[in-house]
Amino acid sequence: MSIQQGSDNQNQSIHGLWTNRWMFVLAATGSAVGLGNIWKFPYITGENGGGAFVLVYLLCVAVIGIPIMMTEVLLGRRGRSTPINTIRRLCDEASASRFWVVIGWFGMLAGLLILSFYSVIGGWALVYIPNAMSGMFSGSTAEQVAEIFNGLLASPGTLLFWHSVFMLMTMTIVARGVEKGIEKAVRILMPVLFVLLLVMVGYAMNLGEFARGVAFLFKPDFSALSANGVLIAMGHAFFTLSLGMGAIMIYGAYLPKDVSIAKVSIIIAVADTLVALLAGLAIFPIVFANGLEPSAGPGLIFVTLPIAFGQMPGGVFFSTLFFVLLSFAALSSAISLVEPVVTWLVENKKMSRVRASTLAGFVIWCIGIGTVLSFNVTSAVTVFEKTFFDLLDFIATNIMLPLGGLAMALFAGWFLPRLISADELSMGQGAGFRVWWFLVRYITPCAVVLVFLNATKII
Ligand code: TRP
Repeated sequence: MSIQQGSDNQNQSIHGLWTNRWMFVLAATGSAVGLGNIWKFPYITGENGGGAFVLVYLLCVAVIGIPIMMTEVLLGRRGRSTPINTIRRLCDEASASRFWVVIGWFGMLAGLLILSFYSVIGGWALVYIPNAMSGMFSGSTAEQVAEIFNGLLASPGTLLFWHSVFMLMTMTIVARGVEKGIEKAVRILMPVLFVLLLVMVGYAMNLGEFARGVAFLFKPDFSALSANGVLIAMGHAFFTLSLGMGAIMIYGAYLPKDVSIAKVSIIIAVADTLVALLAGLAIFPIVFANGLEPSAGPGLIFVTLPIAFGQMPGGVFFSTLFFVLLSFAALSSAISLVEPVVTWLVENKKMSRVRASTLAGFVIWCIGIGTVLSFNVTSAVTVFEKTFFDLLDFIATNIMLPLGGLAMALFAGWFLPRLISADELSMGQGAGFRVWWFLVRYITPCAVVLVFLNATKII
């Protein structure tokens, strides 16, 4: 990432800076757009009743996601280091207690846990590339497609193999410090993914059930949404925007001083949301047209999209392309989940990048085995009716990320001197700044706490 030396008068990034704001937008969008948008959003929307869930998610993106993204970028740019070192510097600069450094520790842990299951799902995307190429889906019925997917889940060996491949690819990129390479690839591939999703939506429009899909996504039925569903919607706003664990903070550390943080944050959030909504618009009409259940769970896109690909002209080509693009989107997200840990090991433990990546990758790979087994061997072992995968996702995504975000909002809103944040956001003390200030001081923390209390049935 070191292209140009940092010439900041405050803190300097030891890794140099992005050459311009588009490099940052690209990297951050590469981190944000991933399995969360295309795999997770549709399946949790389906499980949580549709429209009302989507509405709460969109609200969370607007009042929690965008302000927290601005906060992460501003903290990162001010501290110019890994999340832990960034927060430590800022604590000193603000004469606040070093307690806040827990944000960094907690974030690294959340990143490790999330990547451990993210990689298993990334493996699903990878194995669907040869599947698609072989024409396996051509003319398949819904049952046949479901059988292929269930066969995959039932095979721990295959899941483990592809989980390993995904981890190996991620850690190779991180170890060689060639994230810039993948970001270049993503610069071309992301627009292609976007166009392909548009093609899929176009296809879905002709299925006869498009209106039903649209209604499912956008017509809120609040009776279908539980308190737990609200918590999941909020957790997903963090997950899909890569917030709450320091991934965006570390990318912000390389952001040149003259870039408007508010603008880039809004661009990233809007792009990410659009991708998720397009995925939903492509998938739900297929679900209804084939008499499938929206609440089919984590396999939803792997049992709906292949049906459509199997029927459309050029399906082998489109399906192969789709899973290649999905894998790239997953990779560019995965590298940001582990970047804080690896950079911290390099800076604080004086490890080489290769050693740091090997160590982190190995730990994450091991935890991932738990997720691999939770789909077959240990699928009956549940805690609070959740398998290992469900529990890990729940704790990391719906509890740890919002807690991380809450801590960042409190730190920036109440402990970091207002002059510092105003200076970094460079919006003066005008209306834009006051809106952000009000949101991170009051609205975001209250919203997170209320959703937590609501889900635990305390209120
Ligand atoms: N946002 C990514 C997705 O939607 C996943 C991701 C990457 C992430 N980095 C993160 C989630 C950091 C939480 C925190 O696929």
